[in-house]
Amino acid sequence: MATLTETSFDAAKFPFKGASVKFHDLPTPEEPNFPLPPPSVNPTTILDVDKGTPDSHVPRDPRLIRLTGVHPFNVEPPLTALYKEGDRIHHREKNNPTLTFTGFLTSPELFYVRNHGPVPQVHDDDIPDWELSIEGLVENPFVLSFREILQKYDQITAPITLVCAGNRRKEQNTVRKSKGFSWGPAGLSTALFTGPMMADLIRSAKPFRRAKYVCMEGADKLPNGFYGTSVKLNWAMDYNKGIMLAHKMNGEPLRPDHGRPLRAVVPGQIGGRSVKWLKKLIITDAPSDNWYHINDNRVLPTMVSPEMSAQDRKWWTDERYAIYDLNVNSVAAYPEHEEVLDLATAGTTYTARGYAYAGGGRRITRVEISLDKGKSWRLADIEYAEDKYREWEGHLFGGKVDMWQRETCFCWSFWSLDIPISDLENSDALLVRAMDEALTAQPRDMYWSVLGMMNNPWFRVTITKEGNSLKFEHPTHPAKAGGWMEKAKKAGGDLLNGNWGERHEGEEPVEPEPVQKINMKKEGVNRQIDLEELQANRHAEKPWFVVDGEVYDGTGFLEGHPGGAISITSSAGLDVTEDFHAIHSETAKKMMPDYHIGTLDKASLEALNNASTTTSTEPRPHFLQSRAWSRMTLIEKNDVSWDTRIFVFQLEHERQTLGLPIGQHLMIKVQDPENKNEAIIRSYTPISETNMEGRMELLVKIYFPTTDIPGGKMTMALDKLPLGAPIDCKGPTGRFEYLGNGRVLISGKERHLRSFKMICGGTGITPVFQVLRAVMQDTQDPTKCVVLDGNRLEEDILCRAELDAYVALDQEKCTVVHTLSKSSDTWQGRRGRISEDLIKEFAAPEEASMVLLCGPGALEKSAKKILLEQGWKESDLHFF
Ligand code: MTE
Repeated sequence: MATLTETSFDAAKFPFKGASVKFHDLPTPEEPNFPLPPPSVNPTTILDVDKGTPDSHVPRDPRLIRLTGVHPFNVEPPLTALYKEGDRIHHREKNNPTLTFTGFLTSPELFYVRNHGPVPQVHDDDIPDWELSIEGLVENPFVLSFREILQKYDQITAPITLVCAGNRRKEQNTVRKSKGFSWGPAGLSTALFTGPMMADLIRSAKPFRRAKYVCMEGADKLPNGFYGTSVKLNWAMDYNKGIMLAHKMNGEPLRPDHGRPLRAVVPGQIGGRSVKWLKKLIITDAPSDNWYHINDNRVLPTMVSPEMSAQDRKWWTDERYAIYDLNVNSVAAYPEHEEVLDLATAGTTYTARGYAYAGGGRRITRVEISLDKGKSWRLADIEYAEDKYREWEGHLFGGKVDMWQRETCFCWSFWSLDIPISDLENSDALLVRAMDEALTAQPRDMYWSVLGMMNNPWFRVTITKEGNSLKFEHPTHPAKAGGWMEKAKKAGGDLLNGNWGERHEGEEPVEPEPVQKINMKKEGVNRQIDLEELQANRHAEKPWFVVDGEVYDGTGFLEGHPGGAISITSSAGLDVTEDFHAIHSETAKKMMPDYHIGTLDKASLEALNNASTTTSTEPRPHFLQSRAWSRMTLIEKNDVSWDTRIFVFQLEHERQTLGLPIGQHLMIKVQDPENKNEAIIRSYTPISETNMEGRMELLVKIYFPTTDIPGGKMTMALDKLPLGAPIDCKGPTGRFEYLGNGRVLISGKERHLRSFKMICGGTGITPVFQVLRAVMQDTQDPTKCVVLDGNRLEEDILCRAELDAYVALDQEKCTVVHTLSKSSDTWQGRRGRISEDLIKEFAAPEEASMVLLCGPGALEKSAKKILLEQGWKESDLHFF
């Protein structure tokens, strides 16, 4: 029997309308011949990973595979576990041999989850009063309580498969990174949902004639407002479309991750339309203008790159590219990914099995398997477990099961085919494709698109002979590296060449990029160094440090290091392998043999790495520590423009300041979302004042990938960070410091200046701005500043209001010149890049002056050339 987990909210007090049998009635095993929910275990423990996140109130099943780090919670079950759930039913019901629908229903704890943000916390006692409003173009707008929804409307129970539009997206991302995270092939699950038909509620509100859409809104507050979307009103009013509200899943109250206490369920359509934690139904004459309706759940034309889509809003507002009905799809669950079939014990046939689904209520009419690249096909058997419910009429979980008349197919079906082992042995891949009753078949080739949604090419499982066994591989795995797609790509294959990345006959192989291993050791150096000697040389004057078990003496680089002496002295006596590799280029690595002095013996290396860094629990007045990473927490993300955000981080305590001298930077470390074992480290200058207490603000432009450029690793990782996520910081770093009143420190040497020429582009404004602000805020500081700020478009200019305010404050002291390379006709300022003429006019060489530069590589390079030609000395230029 399914366990009906009760809450303190006693639903039995509100008998459902239309429920002719008592609340928890289940059919007796002899009665219906349809699948019942697998025995479910409602998790009661908050997993450690969820503690400290906004979802610390949601108990979860640890088997679920997290696809977007810890939070928000986006997970799929392991494919085999999902598919196999029915084995448990079979076992449980072994006296009832009719119940053999392997894995048809998914237990709620294993059901995939797609949450855009935190799960709203709803207390049991408040559930009866949960309110849903029906408003907009209706004659009779009203608000219903949860209690009334149960009491006033007929309840139905129906099996429905929900599928995320991102199902199988990892395959798209392997071809070319899309704007979505990587789902494997288990972004779908099935449950018996119970609740009223949406049509019944809307009908009582009496929509006006011109009403055309139902907009739905959830209670989850996200960075761009509440989650919401819409479907057509006539679909909602059509019982055959099956659109309902649900408060139960497999007979138990909805779990928090699935919309507790009330959600919409829109069968046959992408999961994104089934709004959870439902608060509003708004009847309108136009599709939803909710941010998530517009910016999500679309398949844009394949030639639209992420950059094109970001620059032109028309792609997002064109309803033709919005997706509703699911497309035809099928996947093999067996052979499993990395399954090995021992030919000695395999017998004569192998049963390949998997799932198939279609959209809009259409039935899957065939599933075909090919073992010869699609030249010939074999017909698989299909089991439609959903049909079993059509044969029965009665009440289940308080809702009426009445599906005999409705012929629509809203659930996945299972295919299977017995294949002679010898045929598998002679094949290099098993291909699966399905077709629906509209004769739409899965395509052979992938249709790549910006959001990577609706991926449904033939599902391919490769077969490799290894000794006396066969090894099978799926295209990808949601959690692990590997899969045949990654291999084909690494081998230089073009995954879209119509041959799954394998070379066509006669096609020249593409040489894979060789991975260059750089030798950082000095030839002939074989001195063994122990911990004692290393510790004896951990001073600012003799900063020895360790990378990959080798010892380096940084003394000779104290002056020249771009991060300033502090970057080296802060590493003294430490094993800095991870940080070193994360920040340094191949050129930097090639310089290392000059500083190599020996190898740290094995025991010392172990001891060094085991030595716990004792961090004092005393609250520190300044946050940054130069020799240890300190953790701050992301508390706000504010959009400045489509690709630029201000990230606000909380320090360790309210009175703490960052501890960053003006003009210096800090290093930020985050986990690479693409490769969980790697950290990404970059240097940043905050936009907040360095004496700000308790928080730090970082202005970051997100470099999204384009068809040619993979996108900025760090900025995209930052963009994906959920609120509440920690980041590690270390510092300060940098050779330059502004002491005030024209006094600067360059690599520890003091200089007195009368003016600064500041040249920057894009987010290069951030370090420049720190210095400018220090000069401008001190009315006694006589230093003059000229800022030449180059950008592409007017909207790309960052900190513009602040810059204008400084000019308005003192025109004598501050000059700001903006120049745009792609200006509109209405732009009044300078046009073009930061040129020779501009530099001549505003930044000609002067006594007691310095040029501070920060911007894209090309800008820094051309500006340097011009400045040197115009007579500036190299020592007068500082590149942040
Ligand atoms: N509803 C709200 N309020 N917030 C969300 O983030 N995600 C949508 C949809 N409804 C979402 C939502 C998406 S994209 C999907 S695929 C389904 O919920 C997933 O439902 P599940 O998490 O119950 O499997």
